[in-house]
Amino acid sequence: DGQLAADVLAGMRDIPDFPEEGVVFKDFTPVLLDVQLRDRIVADTVERRRGQVDVVAGIEARGFILGAMIAHELGVGFVPVRKGGKLPAAVHSQSYTLEYGTATLEIHQDAVSHHERVLVVDDVLATGGTLAATCELIERCGASVAAIELVLEIEALAGRDKLRGYDLHCLTAA
Ligand code: PRP
Ligand code: MG
Repeated sequence: DGQLAADVLAGMRDIPDFPEEGVVFKDFTPVLLDVQLRDRIVADTVERRRGQVDVVAGIEARGFILGAMIAHELGVGFVPVRKGGKLPAAVHSQSYTLEYGTATLEIHQDAVSHHERVLVVDDVLATGGTLAATCELIERCGASVAAIELVLEIEALAGRDKLRGYDLHCLTAA
């Protein structure tokens, strides 16, 4: 939907020099405040994925927001993929590369069952490290990644290259 893509792009805010000098941060918090736009994003995703997924996995922190709304509308469960050290029960852990250094993401080992189809939701695809680690975690649980849904893809960082073979949909690109 070209109109939705244009509206989402227009609704996002560029913040120069955040989190560090030279970086232009793509802030999607204004989109969350726009109730109609937010609902259109959720409805668009739900229409595309209804019947294809058993559970939604949202990535801490920004993937929790739309991920939870999408899970609610699909009528399926929600699984948090969290930064290292936050989940209380037994976890699978996966390290990934950041611009500087590494970080860890975790999932509860019993969060998704064998053969479940998981929809992964996050806000932005940049280098792809976050999503690649998340897909790895889901597969280590024995489940499969049915699709990945994102609001924005930063094409210059070529994150898609790390996610070959997955059904990946981004609402907009910058
Ligand atoms: C941002 C964004 C994505 C990730 C994309 O999250 O929300 O999750 O970076 O980057 P990548 O494609 O290069 O891995 P961040 O780690 O800043 O944390 P937050 O969601 O908790 O703000
Ligand atoms: Mg994030």
